[in-house]
Amino acid sequence: MGLAMETATSASTILPFTPSVARATEGLYARVSQVVPEIEWAVHAPYVDAINRLKRQKNAVILGHNYMTPEIFHCVADFAGDSLQLAREAARTDAKVIVQAGVHFMAETSKILSPEKTVLIPDLRAGCSLAASITGADVRLLKQKYPGLPVVTYVNTSAEVKAESDVCCTSSDAVAVVEDIARDRGVDAVIMTPDEYLAANVAKQTPVRIIAWKGRCEVHERFSASDIRGYREANPGVVVLAHPECPPAVVSEADFAGSTSAMINYVGKQRPARVVMVTECSMSDNVAVEFPDVEFVRPCNLCPHMKRISLPKILNSLQTMTHEVTVEPAIAVRARAAVERMLAVKTSPQRAAA
Ligand code: 13P
Ligand code: SF4
Repeated sequence: MGLAMETATSASTILPFTPSVARATEGLYARVSQVVPEIEWAVHAPYVDAINRLKRQKNAVILGHNYMTPEIFHCVADFAGDSLQLAREAARTDAKVIVQAGVHFMAETSKILSPEKTVLIPDLRAGCSLAASITGADVRLLKQKYPGLPVVTYVNTSAEVKAESDVCCTSSDAVAVVEDIARDRGVDAVIMTPDEYLAANVAKQTPVRIIAWKGRCEVHERFSASDIRGYREANPGVVVLAHPECPPAVVSEADFAGSTSAMINYVGKQRPARVVMVTECSMSDNVAVEFPDVEFVRPCNLCPHMKRISLPKILNSLQTMTHEVTVEPAIAVRARAAVERMLAVKTSPQRAAA
């Protein structure tokens, strides 16, 4: 074990790129070399090596969202996916420790589903504009205003908001969840929080009436329909894939809309010659590694919250076992019921919130 493994390494310490690190990580570099320049790999590789050794010693699993940078997504994450897949994996894993390479609501969801595990987030400031847009008190007021209507809540929310909700949804199961709860409660309308654009995109696909909150994702709200027309003009034949957190006018202009993993599956199955993923920056880098035959046009909107997660912070998190994410048991029990109800709903990729 090297010195870096014995003592806590601060997130700003630079580890040396030694010949043994180069040998231990050469297979991983071969995987990401087309999106990570060699000069950057010399900085990443010592962390990749240290993290991969330490996570085995600590019986830890790293759950990485599709928006993580390629050196995290491809080189240290044990499981990568969209919000729904990460929630399912958190419920399933046998590891004692979960390091959430994603944002705070994802770590809370993992804790809610695995209360006996230690859940760590490498940077506590990794928030989300959607999660910040609504509180538990707001949901209680909505329920008073629309008595009898069930509340469907996007997983991009705090545990407190989930606890006030009847069921959660993600962008890959939202239509199925809305229809399931409306059928079960015998109602023709539901309250959907907090993303007004996801709600509007779901409303286009179901007869269930949707009463929406006014939250927005600060990454996806910035795309416009004229951006999409611009990509098509500049890149003839390009296939446009959009995330359902985008404004409905953007989704209408796209060839396909779905969760981050639904977009990846689309590229894998259809193999378009040229594609643009209308979502967070790192997605295209991560997917380009898998499909070198596909040309990715890369407009770029960064999520500042996702980008707070870095290799040095993941290593520090494992070394110091910080920052532990906890959820008050009384809230966790109610939030878990809403998440589990979502996990029980049968979904198919065709019913994604597109
Ligand atoms: P999905 O990965 O579920 O599509 O969500 C995207 C997102 O914005 C997560 O923060
Ligand atoms: Fe939140 Fe949007 Fe960032 Fe996802 S991409 S974490 S929804 S701000």
